[in-house]
Amino acid sequence: MDRIIEMDHFVSVEDLTNEQIMLLLQRASAFKTGKVWKSPKHQIFAANMFFENSTRTHNSFHIAQRKLGLEVLEFGTATSSLQKGETLYDTVLTLCALGVDVVVIRSTIERYWEDLIQSSNVHCHVVNGGDGSGEHPSQCLLDLMTIQEEFGKFSGLKVAIIGDLVHSRVARSNMQMLTRFGAEIFFSGPKEWHDKEFDKYGKYLSLDELIPKVDVLMMLRVQHERHDGELNFSKEKYHRLYGLTENRASWLQDHAIIMHPAPVNRDVEIADSLVESPKSRIVEQMRNGVYARMAILEAVLT
Ligand code: CP
Repeated sequence: MDRIIEMDHFVSVEDLTNEQIMLLLQRASAFKTGKVWKSPKHQIFAANMFFENSTRTHNSFHIAQRKLGLEVLEFGTATSSLQKGETLYDTVLTLCALGVDVVVIRSTIERYWEDLIQSSNVHCHVVNGGDGSGEHPSQCLLDLMTIQEEFGKFSGLKVAIIGDLVHSRVARSNMQMLTRFGAEIFFSGPKEWHDKEFDKYGKYLSLDELIPKVDVLMMLRVQHERHDGELNFSKEKYHRLYGLTENRASWLQDHAIIMHPAPVNRDVEIADSLVESPKSRIVEQMRNGVYARMAILEAVLT
């Protein structure tokens, strides 16, 4: 008998127990190997509301929804009554009243979901597709899935998270979860993009010191859109000082893997030639996104 976890919403990995995460990972792997979901009712509606650009998260949720047999509404943020001043809360309240069962939302606003999940009138499930510089819990799940597939464990692994730490919701979710599961976390990148709050998760080291030590090298995108035009680095300078160059990649241990949530700025945080190289799991992360999101949708809809 399959064990499926049940949860009302999926908004933050912090709220999940270790057991819930492990079960989500098991279900994601089961979907990857062909498991089919038995829907609890005839017609289930999902609405995708993306207020920030997205390729991977948006389309992999859409594909996950279609694979699970859901009816999918692509909510047009630009053509909706949001343009007349309707709030996100009232929009979600409306969609739920119309019969939407689950909303997947990406917003620029951190913790936008709080009033939605606290409301006794919003009856649909809320799934967080990323909130500003807050969290990206579905990316965290697919990253954990990719690491687990590679190493079969988290405990004892040395994981480096490198780059635009302070703006990265991916980094925040991953440092919390990997620490919880016993991985040793290290950080690197521009010192000004590191924050004291990360000290409780791991040490900051220079990139050259880190690379030969780690099992997983997680490169982060430079988030140009969150720097208010105050980027102190040219692309070439960033790549030279903090990027994964071919030379630095040659210092990686044989078994070490390279990850990146993408989109990738090729030749900025990672050399163009390394993106699809044998050590890279970047494409596998994208592939796993569909199955991780199937597991998340199953958990909230069951
Ligand atoms: N990794 C990620 O969230 O990609 P998108 O912004 O394209 O969804």
